[in-house]
Amino acid sequence: MKHNLYGEFKKSYNKEAESAFFSPGRVNLIGEHIDYNGGLVMPCAITFGTYVLAATNNEGIFRFRSLNFEDKLDITLQDSYEKSGETWYNYPLGIIDYFVKEGHQIQGLDLLFYGDIPISSGLSSSASIEVVTAYALNEMFSCSYTKLELVKLSKEVENVFIGVNCGIMDQFAVAFGEKDKALMLNCDTLDYKAVDSNLGDHVLAIINTNKPRKLAESKYNERVQECHEALKALQQELDINNLCDIDSETFKQYQHLITDEIVFKRAKHVIEENDRVKLAAEALASSNLAEFGRLMYASHDSLKTLYEVSGKELDAVVEYSLTDPNVAGARMTGAGFGGCAIALVKESAFDNFSKAVTEYYTGKIGYAPSVYSSLIGDGVGLLKEVVNL
Ligand code: GLA
Repeated sequence: MKHNLYGEFKKSYNKEAESAFFSPGRVNLIGEHIDYNGGLVMPCAITFGTYVLAATNNEGIFRFRSLNFEDKLDITLQDSYEKSGETWYNYPLGIIDYFVKEGHQIQGLDLLFYGDIPISSGLSSSASIEVVTAYALNEMFSCSYTKLELVKLSKEVENVFIGVNCGIMDQFAVAFGEKDKALMLNCDTLDYKAVDSNLGDHVLAIINTNKPRKLAESKYNERVQECHEALKALQQELDINNLCDIDSETFKQYQHLITDEIVFKRAKHVIEENDRVKLAAEALASSNLAEFGRLMYASHDSLKTLYEVSGKELDAVVEYSLTDPNVAGARMTGAGFGGCAIALVKESAFDNFSKAVTEYYTGKIGYAPSVYSSLIGDGVGLLKEVVNL
């Protein structure tokens, strides 16, 4: 379906949009489930994302409409808001809640959202809609938040209003992403570098398992809790604030402090994954894609066996990739429990890869995945041109 977003806005509200904004989704090349452990991650913004068109109104009403969902909401300006059920507009509502509680003088808004990120696919559609809403409010009501403050408040909305104890990677990546760059982000200090994605003759393939993600949020929060327990155990003898403050060698000396077998496995993944990101950064800098790919496979294996957030669908994509000489590496990306895998595929062999992985996956799982060749794009911003999507 093609949408002229400005035309759609006019159809919905019978007036012109005043401003339009875009925030991308993200993939994470490596460094999974370690952002909330103060680790290093390597996400990129992608060209799929969330658009919002907005116009102020003098009625003191927030109106939420989406071209993706039927659910809509009209709600008056209040001192605070509450999450209602599982609907999409909780995300922008949570952002508005944050702005009003901080005492910003905002007025009613008519908002129209459209997203081309596959929903619940682990490509951060939620961070994307949070950040684009925060950016839009900040611009339209001159609230003077810096981009980093918008990232932090969006994460807080996800943690408190939505109730998912996520780390900062997604909101950071969708705000600070740059075209053809990966972000090397230290989630403890929030120092980051945009590095060339250096994929040479390879492209980044995104393979959506199309598996509906059930219970993902509660399982995610469970992992965060297990990491807290591991940290507490290590802190009996180590003066550290995060699991990622130590490397695998140090972990070996202190691992006996963790007596619970499950908690031990979670900590081992986290600490080894952080070491892998350091190696991956070196591999990328020297264009050593074979090494980068090896680290991707190792990351997946650890997420499967130690962290236990993969599943037969994501594993099937990686199993196929391991047999294809035109794939340098593959792994699940994002929270897991379904969602997407990524693969570094020789550009000239992309079509073959797409066909073959679809065949393998469908044979094994019983329905088809969706395969995209992804472009690494820019972070959140004002939309300058009319987009037909
Ligand atoms: C989700 C969270 C992120 C991060 C990833 C796993 O995307 O929102 O903060 O923890 O999972 O790396």
